[in-house]
Amino acid sequence: MEEILVYFYEAKNLVDAKLEEYMSNDEPLLKGLQESINYTLYSGGKRVRPLFCFIAGELFEVPRERLISLACALEMIHTASLIMDDLPHMDDAKIRRGKPANHLIYGQDVAALASIGLLTRAYEVVLNDPEVPEDKKARVVRKLANVVGVNGMVGGQFVDLKFSNKSMEYKTLEYIHIHKTASLFMAAGSTGAMIGDATDEQIHALEAYAMNLGFAFQILDDLLDVTGRVEEVGKSLKNDKGNFIALHGIEKSRELVTEYTDKALQAVKIFDGKNGKLAVLAQMLLKRRS
Ligand code: IPE
Ligand code: IPE
Ligand code: MG
Ligand code: MG
Ligand code: MG
Repeated sequence: MEEILVYFYEAKNLVDAKLEEYMSNDEPLLKGLQESINYTLYSGGKRVRPLFCFIAGELFEVPRERLISLACALEMIHTASLIMDDLPHMDDAKIRRGKPANHLIYGQDVAALASIGLLTRAYEVVLNDPEVPEDKKARVVRKLANVVGVNGMVGGQFVDLKFSNKSMEYKTLEYIHIHKTASLFMAAGSTGAMIGDATDEQIHALEAYAMNLGFAFQILDDLLDVTGRVEEVGKSLKNDKGNFIALHGIEKSRELVTEYTDKALQAVKIFDGKNGKLAVLAQMLLKRRS
């Protein structure tokens, strides 16, 4: 266990250091944009998606150096989505990662550009990385673009904004969870595995793990909106909209978080003997308070 915690700590530090390298920009005219990007990027995210990518790659003995641009790309995409998600015409949230939301400090115009800047740079860093085998780049970047776009996170956010209400159908809720949250988790696992030459069966197993974990993650996120405190969760709490908790209540939702986490662990049984870190990651997410 101690060994795994050290691994998580080191992976997080590596991601932070590399993000700084990938996102730095010396152009004096862009100082304000750079500050806006840095403000949210280095404000204490859990770095869950990069961590999962490293763990998935490690199953196939891919060294971290070969995954670092991809891991950072996942975090850039995720951070971009958070800045966008908080804007007044989206969730209109005031607090993110324990601080005022990006647009409250830098303005909506700059925050929107910071989000798009992070998102586009994500694809670039993978394509520019000599450590990522040339023959894998197209497949990996295609996957990333797919989970971000209309059939992924963008679509999930759209359905969330337009169709989530307290009497929505289960299918709509499922669509939202899968697309706005689970799909990026799935890509974190599958792209890491792709670089490691995983078989289709192994990629599917990691995707099933990520799907279920992502699902549990969003139910828990919605639970924290109801049961958490803003100082602890570190972001504005939204408990006025349709979600699992509105549909099923707190107790049932808690049960579902455990149920989906168990399903996630079942899915990676095929890596028996090598899936210790996947289990710890799932347990950590199950217990998270922020
Ligand atoms: C929050 O994600 C957004 C959701 C998909 C629910 P995280 O809980 O991973 O946020 P950070 O990166 O740790 O701030
Ligand atoms: C957002 O879901 C998922 C994203 C793609 C950002 P939420 O709106 O619940 O995320 P938080 O709670 O603001 O982090
Ligand atoms: Mg939202
Ligand atoms: Mg939100
Ligand atoms: Mg939320």
